[in-house]
Amino acid sequence: MIVAIDGPAGSGKSTIAKILAERLGALYIDTGAMYRALTYKVLTSDIDLQDKEKIYEIARNTKLDFVKKGSTYHILLDGKDVNEEIRKPEVSAKVFYVADYPKIREIMVFLQRKLSTNESVVIEGRDTTTVVFPEAKYKFFLDAEFSERVRRRQSDLLNKGIKISWRELSQSLAERDRKDKTRPVGALKQAPGAIYIDTTKLSIEEVVNKLLEIINKKDV
Ligand code: DC
Repeated sequence: MIVAIDGPAGSGKSTIAKILAERLGALYIDTGAMYRALTYKVLTSDIDLQDKEKIYEIARNTKLDFVKKGSTYHILLDGKDVNEEIRKPEVSAKVFYVADYPKIREIMVFLQRKLSTNESVVIEGRDTTTVVFPEAKYKFFLDAEFSERVRRRQSDLLNKGIKISWRELSQSLAERDRKDKTRPVGALKQAPGAIYIDTTKLSIEEVVNKLLEIINKKDV
């Protein structure tokens, strides 16, 4: 079974996908973490972010896996747990160098499909319903109002001890929205057949239940 979830930053897709995977006994694939991990590798390898060929070379020689730790999944970059490092704002600000490059996206999509071959998965990220699994039976597009998405981001970061002003966060979120929507390959958009859910006024539990209800109905 493949459940694919797309949506803009702060729409709640990671949180929801994680819980949904747990409830369905499926592997959780956080595709954003994969792009972040590769970006982190480039940033720590002393490579010019403009050097696309070099980044491509690195991507081809990178191993990405997910391991379950407690109730969450951590990403392993060449066997090393980089779950914390990849969430830092320096990485967020630079991901587009890697994610905007179509040849890199091809490698990532290949890896994402490979990870999903033998297991039930809940896969989440910008192009999962449009490019990675357009044929998935269960496709969702989660959304929320801009200010609510900024609020969620701020509280996520605060929980990790990172303090960023509302102004700075809204600017960076608006910029990310723009980049995500205008990316030449794998741009953020609602896939045909994907169910749109506005999560602005819904609790996490309410969104999870809504998705489970739809999945269970489709299974009948
Ligand atoms: O979901 P996230 O914030 O962890 O994603 C990090 C970045 O990676 C985001 O700016 C967009 C990019 N990304 C992408 O291009 N394609 C995906 N499938 C997932 C993320």
